[in-house]
Amino acid sequence: MKPTVAVTHIFPEPALEVLRSRFDVRYNGSGDSLSPAELIQRAESSQAMITYLTDKMDAGVIDRGADLKIIANYGAGYNNIDVPRAHAKGIWVSNTPGVLHETTADLTWAMILGTARQIVPADRYTREGQFHGWQAKLFLGNDVFGKTLGVIGCGEIGRAVARRAAGFKMSVLYHQRHRLPTAEEKNLNAEFVTLPELLKRSDFVTLHVPLTDATRHLIGQEQIEMMKPTAILIHTARGKVVDDEALVTALQNRRIAGAALDVFENEPALSAGMTALDNLMILPHIGSASVETRDRMALLVADNVIDALAGKTPRSLVPGWAASRRGQ
Ligand code: DGY
Repeated sequence: MKPTVAVTHIFPEPALEVLRSRFDVRYNGSGDSLSPAELIQRAESSQAMITYLTDKMDAGVIDRGADLKIIANYGAGYNNIDVPRAHAKGIWVSNTPGVLHETTADLTWAMILGTARQIVPADRYTREGQFHGWQAKLFLGNDVFGKTLGVIGCGEIGRAVARRAAGFKMSVLYHQRHRLPTAEEKNLNAEFVTLPELLKRSDFVTLHVPLTDATRHLIGQEQIEMMKPTAILIHTARGKVVDDEALVTALQNRRIAGAALDVFENEPALSAGMTALDNLMILPHIGSASVETRDRMALLVADNVIDALAGKTPRSLVPGWAASRRGQ
């Protein structure tokens, strides 16, 4: 009998084809998320589960996966999975590093440029027929060229964002727990600074940290207070890294010039006050959403599943996994 692979949500065809040629694929292509009870049912009856960031893979689900060999998350982030629990149960957890950082960096730059030059409100204004001729002060934005970019979290995505800053002749500051090797700093032309220093000096602050206990509400009122009144906050990481209530208040009071969020705290629900803000760009979590990248991610997910079900170590286990022993 072929092993069963449960795919919890919409998944690209090329990867589905690969999976279908080897496994019994149980695919939820309905467009709706599975309920907790349905996730448990899939855990009970599958050898592999392919999950979304919106699937809460907690102990209640994981403990029911008696035959489960792998939870293969379709994304780089994996905060939806209780990794220590899976580890203790001998279930591999994989994610999709190395294939989506350039695409997410592209979107980050679209957000930087889009907020600096008010692209979305200007488009809306033009469509609404409000444009009656050139005016010197129509949609005055801020320059990006030559400004200072602050990158919080200089992993794959943060570094890809920083690299693009050279084309705009920007100064790049970065902050994270560990300093990058000197050669990498030189390559990026980036200066390692404390978080307060980064917040005080940057014109654009962009977030690229994973969601952990240490990064939850990393940016709140106190941190926003340190930013320049002309600064813009860009967020493509995980919603809960920013205290959205504090951000909305700051944007309402023009404490900072603007923000662009591809992720937000109560996603997919918007926080109170967000829709009324003309200095906020809000996107529906599309950082890695290019055809090529979503296919690459899905094929990597499929490879991880194939590895695990062939009794091999999956090729992209979540960070830190290799350092700890697989509990079996
Ligand atoms: C990622 O890859 O983490 C994206 O945010 C989708 O989960």
